[in-house]
Amino acid sequence: MQIWSEDERRQGKRIVLVPTMGFLHEGHLSLVREGRKRGDRLIVSIFVNPKQFAPDEDYAAYPRNLERDRGLLKKEGVDVLFHPSADEVYAEGHETHVEVERMGSILCGAFRPGHFRGVSTVVAKLFNIVRPHVAIFGLKDYQQLQIIRRMAVDLNFDVEVVGYPIVRERDGLAMSSRNAYLGKRERQAALCLYRALKKAESLVLEGQRSGERIISAVRAELETESLARVEYVHLCHPVTLEEVKNIHDEALLALAVWIGKARLIDNTLLRA
Ligand code: PAJ
Repeated sequence: MQIWSEDERRQGKRIVLVPTMGFLHEGHLSLVREGRKRGDRLIVSIFVNPKQFAPDEDYAAYPRNLERDRGLLKKEGVDVLFHPSADEVYAEGHETHVEVERMGSILCGAFRPGHFRGVSTVVAKLFNIVRPHVAIFGLKDYQQLQIIRRMAVDLNFDVEVVGYPIVRERDGLAMSSRNAYLGKRERQAALCLYRALKKAESLVLEGQRSGERIISAVRAELETESLARVEYVHLCHPVTLEEVKNIHDEALLALAVWIGKARLIDNTLLRA
């Protein structure tokens, strides 16, 4: 992979990377299409990264379908599908990790210790292996995107990190590989996340600026759904992810909610 990229770079080609864990949906494919526009060579990685799953999480159960993914990427005109094995990525003796300390320990990081350490480590490795000029990440995993941006600045990665908007199903549910875990009744219940975000947006539109008021309205909306178990509702600064008490110009509203065995996350940028 490195040799191929170096060769393309020498020929002046601009290389774009879209990192994924596969089981591709329209959200991933939108990133791929955006990637096509931003460079000359497009690489999609598919790697279910064991280091970002805790021992009690769904690494083994995480949905996989390489043959289907390969067909979808072929149709999108992707130049390289990079699909390494876990042994190849983490060779024997591997012991170096990247940790974006504060940003990786809040929000999802508070409930998934070690998760973002696994994410930033694998993304740093992918940047070094694929040597992209541009890498595209979805705003769906907003905290992940900001952590990668921080890491790229802090460690002088010469990569432009691009964020792409959340792609949703027609009824508002944010697309996610983990939606495959939802049964019929749960799929319906999962709509409470979108309803809660919309509720917050309309409160802000009506002039509400109090974080406390907005959060309690969001919780109330989520709690109308008996299958939902709220993990967190946070209002935070869109770049630093530090807690915001009142909305001045922009704030990120981020949710994590369990529906059955699916842990769903969603977010929206609230503008005063
Ligand atoms: P994965 O969950 O497969 O997501 C790959 C990329 O697709 C991420 O940047 C994610 O934010 C984006 N994405 C997922 N659903 C989306 C949606 N509905 N709309 C827009 N973008 C969406 O995120 C990971 O994999 C991994 O943590 C990874 C970065 C590959 C590191 O292992």
